[in-house]
Amino acid sequence: MAATGTTASGESAFYVTTPIYYVNDAPHLGHAYTTVAGDVLTRWHRQRGEKVWYLTGTDEHGQKIMRTAEANGVSPQEWCDKLVEDAWKPLWEHLQIANDDFIRTTEPRHTDRVQEFVQDLYDKGEIYKGEYEGPYCVGCEEYKSPGDLLEGDLCPIHKRPVEWLKEENYFFRLSAYGQRLLEHYEQNPDFIQPASARNEIVQLVKQGLQDLSISRSTFDWGVPIPWDPKHVIYVWIDALLNYATAVGYGSDQAKFDDTWPANVHLVGKDILRFHAAIWPAMLMANNLPLPRKIFANGWLLVGGEKMSKSNLTGISPRDLTSHFGVDAYRYYFLRAIPFGQDGSFSWEDFSARYTSELANDFGNLASRVAAMIGKYFDGVLPEAGKSGTEPEAGRSGAGPEAKDAGLGPAEQAIADGLAAAVAQADTAIGDNLDFAGGIGAIFDFVKQVNGYLSDQAPWKVAKDDSPEGQARLATILYTAAESLRAIAVLLNPVMPATSEKLWASLGAEPHLGALADQRIADVATWGRLPAGAQVVKGEILFPRLENA
Ligand code: MSP
Repeated sequence: MAATGTTASGESAFYVTTPIYYVNDAPHLGHAYTTVAGDVLTRWHRQRGEKVWYLTGTDEHGQKIMRTAEANGVSPQEWCDKLVEDAWKPLWEHLQIANDDFIRTTEPRHTDRVQEFVQDLYDKGEIYKGEYEGPYCVGCEEYKSPGDLLEGDLCPIHKRPVEWLKEENYFFRLSAYGQRLLEHYEQNPDFIQPASARNEIVQLVKQGLQDLSISRSTFDWGVPIPWDPKHVIYVWIDALLNYATAVGYGSDQAKFDDTWPANVHLVGKDILRFHAAIWPAMLMANNLPLPRKIFANGWLLVGGEKMSKSNLTGISPRDLTSHFGVDAYRYYFLRAIPFGQDGSFSWEDFSARYTSELANDFGNLASRVAAMIGKYFDGVLPEAGKSGTEPEAGRSGAGPEAKDAGLGPAEQAIADGLAAAVAQADTAIGDNLDFAGGIGAIFDFVKQVNGYLSDQAPWKVAKDDSPEGQARLATILYTAAESLRAIAVLLNPVMPATSEKLWASLGAEPHLGALADQRIADVATWGRLPAGAQVVKGEILFPRLENA
């Protein structure tokens, strides 16, 4: 198995997954949080010029979905089809999620492979028949340890009574993998992130793992156990396998080799155990390579509790996008909450950041610069240091020779600030999934450009109509526009629609090509936006908020 390095197509993909969501209900902010994070991460890697594969999907089996469908008087399949088509897929489109695939666990491309995988484990002696008795939470679709329950019988996550189950099940020999898992954690310190998540799992595995019940026989909404179809496969075993079945496991070996193992599984902290202990053990049992990283994000909280539909605290993303717009929505949660920690959603905080960071710092910068280039240079980007509005043929704004052409100290400080912002954002977002830090670095640069304009006061310089004054004005506005060129590229993974508007307003495309084709590695090269670009004052990027 060519798990790493080059494969048939020459390059293995940077493969990112979201959890597959239960479709018992419509999505809320908590679900969208992880999916937007994955979208920003994958867009960033595409802009690095890498081959990328971004997978999301839906988890459609199990008791929770079956009961919801029954309560609504439809079959589970009908229920899933409706929710997927009417609620989940449209939301991801609305939020501009650029996933490469969407897997549903009721699709034969998945269910057939799940049966084969489980059969393989059975044939290898990894699965045996036994009996299980214990408290089960249908909300979590998980057996609980009696010691974890609150007030004797409440699930600690859902705060609702668990059910006592006793049935004959098939078991996976999970207990046999504890030592190998611990060795893997030890040898791969970045396997589970953040550190708090890693510590939690290491402790859990050190305490000793029990064998895992992987079948259910009291209901039938699931994938049948191939050798004993009275049982269906436990929904979590079925669900975890989506990450492999969706990229060709057992059906398209070349694609599987190109894509697997996943570079990052994004998960909520409540489902960490499944991803960081059970899933790797399943893969070990079938001699498959392990994912490279499991990153657990925190919860969005309401009143200190995990936001959830079952607790009636689930807020629909559209309730926010209709007020703030999609791009501000994508920005806000990643900027405001350090990825990996819990965070509370607050309408006031969102409004405050929208107004100060997006509308004032960023939006006003873009519109002021375009307006001044319109006013003083008829919308034609001037060449830095030149007083005329007509650039010399073939001469770009500054080009790689920028330093030779002699950036003034204030302009050099901007070019240096940009280089620092690019380096910081690239490491933070692209490598460390520190979205707040990366976006923060980009916005520090936005602030720096604002400071530059306040210091240089081009509106005053414009009053000096000597050739030197006009040349200085050209330099200032060139510097600001060139900075905006870079900002558009850096923010494109986070706010794609806004960045497109900015790209269009700078008249960049005829000279530099499509925004999506710009590379992170080129962003800090000063002088890419050529003099002569047609700058127009486009629509306001972040309109004033209506009173909510
Ligand atoms: N179907 C399983 C996942 C299977 S992955 C092989 C599942 N589904 S879920 O719909 O209940 O939850 C999906 C994800 O949403 C989880 O990562 C969970 O942490 C996340 N969130 C649900 N509510 C959340 C918040 N309030 N805040 C942040 N994320 C939360 O579990």
